[in-house]
Amino acid sequence: MGRRRVLLDVDTGVDDALALMLAIRSPELEVLGITTVSGNVPVARSTANTLLALEMLGASTIPVVAGAAAPLARALFTAAEVHGSDGLGDVTHRYPAPLRQATRGAAEFLLQMIHRHPGGLTLIATGPLTNVATAIQRDAGAMRRLQGLTVMGGAIRVSGNVGPTTEFNFAVDPEAAAIVLGAGLPLTLVPLDVTEQVILSRKMVDEAGSAGTLQGFIREMTAVTMAFHRDHEGFDGMFLHDPLAVGVVVDPSLVRGQPMAVAIERRGELTAGMAVADLRRRSQAAPTATVCVEVEAARFLRLFQERVLQ
Ligand code: RIB
Ligand code: CA
Repeated sequence: MGRRRVLLDVDTGVDDALALMLAIRSPELEVLGITTVSGNVPVARSTANTLLALEMLGASTIPVVAGAAAPLARALFTAAEVHGSDGLGDVTHRYPAPLRQATRGAAEFLLQMIHRHPGGLTLIATGPLTNVATAIQRDAGAMRRLQGLTVMGGAIRVSGNVGPTTEFNFAVDPEAAAIVLGAGLPLTLVPLDVTEQVILSRKMVDEAGSAGTLQGFIREMTAVTMAFHRDHEGFDGMFLHDPLAVGVVVDPSLVRGQPMAVAIERRGELTAGMAVADLRRRSQAAPTATVCVEVEAARFLRLFQERVLQ
């Protein structure tokens, strides 16, 4: 089977950077382009971080296109406490500034690429869905020609991570998440229910292969995020939220998916961005996504270690 052509839409932060590494080092995938969005950090930073990660990977020919600076209808809030103020563990100052500039116009780029590869393109979104929703608003018919859309976001049967019921990507831009969940796209949702089962320990990073540039970069870049998890989650490591979304595309057998009718709360004072799944046995609601409900965590971590930490 040929390589799967993918685009990634990212808010590069630390786990997005690790997801890019897994995608680019997975022979099953051909990364045709990356779009960036505000989320963990403002889009100027997520774009610079994406360019830096690609340079560290020797993948500087992959197009990077900057997108939305703010959510569709709300003020942006970021996650500097988790990812560092620069979005990559506050270590980017130790590395040369990226050699190239990104272009702009993420939504247009996504649509152009779909027109170029009708039915043969998978989009992996690991940040707030502002760019994806904008592309749907511009040409929903084109977006439905995606071979697949895999989204890291939401919390179905577990607590949220920015609120009791809300996950960060959907909470930053609930309006965008609602548009994406309601657009009838071939959507696979990778929620906290499974991403919080895949933990990269500091021990794994410390034991990583030769302390070459990439290994040193990973070790430095993850320190702030791991300290946050140590202080707030009780373990010395970090959840691999975004790398699992890539892993699901690399090897779908890593997860078990369940069709669900999922919609996004937008008006709740405490629940804006909540992914509301209709789990009632008698529900007649049509499914809107295939939700990953189980993951073979150990097998995914082995894949991640072999491809990123070696
Ligand atoms: O809730 C986790 C998600 O929010 C991850 O994608 C992380 O990078 C942040 O964007
Ligand atoms: Ca992300």
